Amino acid sequence: MFAIPLTDDAELRPLEVWQTEEFFAHIERAREQLDRWIGFAAASPDLDGARATLQRYADRQAADAGRLFGIWDRGTLVGGCMYPTFDAKSGNCEIGVWTEPAGQGRGLITAAVRLLLDHALLERGLARAEWHCDPRNERSWAVAKRVGMTAEGILRSSYPYRGERQDAQIWGILRDEWIAVREAEPKAHKAS
Ligand SMILES: CC(C)(COP(=O)(O)OP(=O)(O)OC[C@H]1O[C@@H](n2cnc3c(N)ncnc32)[C@H](O)[C@@H]1OP(=O)(O)O)[C@@H](O)C(=O)NCCC(=O)NCCS
Repeated sequence: MFAIPLTDDAELRPLEVWQTEEFFAHIERAREQLDRWIGFAAASPDLDGARATLQRYADRQAADAGRLFGIWDRGTLVGGCMYPTFDAKSGNCEIGVWTEPAGQGRGLITAAVRLLLDHALLERGLARAEWHCDPRNERSWAVAKRVGMTAEGILRSSYPYRGERQDAQIWGILRDEWIAVREAEPKAHKAS
């Protein structure tokens, strides 16, 4: 399968239904880290759930409405990123990310997000990309900030998670802003 290098050891690849067992094993390693902030692992409580998650993204990809990618480090799936929503008609998409502990703290997510911004804003010509996170999730918004997004505001009591309503912080970047970031940091696409 095609792969885009993120570092000398890590690469971004499509993550698809046929990889369900590998995906579920990775989600088991990531579960504790993810559960604090997002329902992505909880949506894959077992193999059937993991298959359903990958199928959901395959369906979105077929409709040009979203897409999922994995990050492999020396052959092991350690994280990934996605467009939970992708709307070419309105020119807007959202980007989401996750890692297991072994994939964290190395810039892999930042490098992957830059590729997704290139694809959405430059290749596909969308006008805007968004990032939604819990404002207390500093590691998450640090990625949004690092790639040049702007904190646009907080939706108070926006969604229920683990029995409580949570605030959602919205970050965003417009196509022209991303072009300016790319021109100012031409070599910023490689993680260490
Ligand atoms: C959010 C999450 C994906 C961020 O992962 P991350 O590893 O911190 O993000 P990056 O891959 O961009 O790595 C950044 C770190 O690598 C370091 N780094 C090393 N080389 C780097 C490079 N070339 N470029 C950027 N950062 C680099 C940075 O300094 C930073 O380290 P620090 O946290 O010690 O300051 C992760 O914490 C996670 O999975 N959290 C749980 C799920 C979640 O919250 N998802 C987001 C929901 S909105």
